[in-house]
Amino acid sequence: MLSKTVCTRDGYRLPMAATNRRIAAVDDVPTDSTYLFTLREDESGEEREAILVRSDGELHAWLNYCQHYTNINIDKGSGAEMRNGELICTNHGAYFESDSGYCNHGPCKGAYLNEIDISIEDGDVSLTDDDYDYVRDGPIETDETERESKSNYKF
Ligand code: FES
Repeated sequence: MLSKTVCTRDGYRLPMAATNRRIAAVDDVPTDSTYLFTLREDESGEEREAILVRSDGELHAWLNYCQHYTNINIDKGSGAEMRNGELICTNHGAYFESDSGYCNHGPCKGAYLNEIDISIEDGDVSLTDDDYDYVRDGPIETDETERESKSNYKF
């Protein structure tokens, strides 16, 4: 099996493990919302958004897409809404458990968010998921119209 490699600016090929896959410091992740970052999916080459969230002293990473309409972001760029430790999609009020990604309320009840593999070492969160490469902190740079859309759902 071939191991994944990346090309440096100097043209050297390095094993993926030797590249910087650090996402953020643990302390950068808010206690009552989410930390947004961007990944590149290896298979398609397309960028995807993901979020870090705290739950009972642990950190979890999920792709930043609701399971009701998968083009809708849970974190719309300023941190996801949360209540009692659960992530809320504000478009139609789906609630997702932060530690399992399970939707326990709303139109996609029973579905799960897509998990991203991470590790924590020396106060830093790193990407360990072989299906993605880290791109940057923050969102995919795109049209803000869709990002800001919300329904009339009241909280
Ligand atoms: S798009 Fe998230 S609940 Fe409908």
